[in-house]
Amino acid sequence: MEIISNITQDVIKRAANSLINGHLVAFPTETVYGLGADATNEKAVSRIYSVKGRPTDHPLIVHISSISKLGKWAIDIPDYAIKLAKEFWPGPMTLILKRSKLAQDFITGSQDNVGVRVPAHPIALGLLSEFESIGGEGIAAPSANRFGAVSPTNIMAVKEELGVFMHTEDLILEGGQSSIGIESTIIDCTKDQPIVLRPGAITAEMIENILDVRVVLGKVKNEIKASGLLESHYSPKARVLLDTQAKPGNGLIALSSVPTPIGVIRLAEPHNIEEYAKVLYSALRESDKKEIDVVIVILPNGSGLATAIIDRLKKASTKSVPE
Ligand code: TXA
Ligand code: MG
Repeated sequence: MEIISNITQDVIKRAANSLINGHLVAFPTETVYGLGADATNEKAVSRIYSVKGRPTDHPLIVHISSISKLGKWAIDIPDYAIKLAKEFWPGPMTLILKRSKLAQDFITGSQDNVGVRVPAHPIALGLLSEFESIGGEGIAAPSANRFGAVSPTNIMAVKEELGVFMHTEDLILEGGQSSIGIESTIIDCTKDQPIVLRPGAITAEMIENILDVRVVLGKVKNEIKASGLLESHYSPKARVLLDTQAKPGNGLIALSSVPTPIGVIRLAEPHNIEEYAKVLYSALRESDKKEIDVVIVILPNGSGLATAIIDRLKKASTKSVPE
């Protein structure tokens, strides 16, 4: 595996060719880093599962360069989904739609629908455009972490998670710290009305403003298989406890307005909710490095992005971790 830090157009070309040739390319997005493969190449996609250690019946998100490519991957797209795509793409939003023939079982976990996203990061978009210009249709990319672990928001985290599992020909593209820091909002668009399956930076309020409907929140139990929807996920090695008093030796993640008790190891003190999302995963990762056993997290209040942060932290704190 090779890490490339200075991303020129030549590097983008090389990475796109690597994908076409069946290799894996980890790349930055505005949410978290993704582990990419040619979404039409079964062999390449199967390597995503082995590198991540993820069960093969979990579906993958297909990334495309623009809304104009959506019709390749999805059919019977409802008007409200088009509206959402026009408003929020490129951006931190994944739409679940009825699949076209291009979205094969090895992408969708044999379901009849497919998740599609246009990411907003310039390197991701550059890679997608180049990949499509040489015949690619879309890049399948889950978060670039081992199954059940915390998503990576910088290059070091990708290397730590997957470095030893990647092949010599695989690439990791460096693109700085992910600006949002938590995964995209997933919206099921296969019903009459949108259902938010995974909250993210595109909030229910933002969706309601565009569509003039009441957004149904929360998971649809057992109806759609999605690893981000498992109860326990996004977990560091430490035990994560929510909203309790930190003791000496514990790690602490909380807004900067919360003081650090004596002997407690402060892992993050974000000043606002956006910063909270941005630093959360590196703070959880830091607890592993510092070999902290217990991390106390004081949850943020409110709706919007706070809903997404609370969702991830509840999952990080559930202890039947799938490893
Ligand atoms: O922000 C993101 O969405 C990042 C970046 C790299 O784009 N990707 C990401 O992928 O978080 P992943 O695979 O780690 O999480 C996507 C979630 C998984 O829980 C997956 O099972 C679910 O989306 N998913 C994908 N396709 C689906 C589908 N057709 N139906 C239901 N859930 C789906
Ligand atoms: Mg993931």
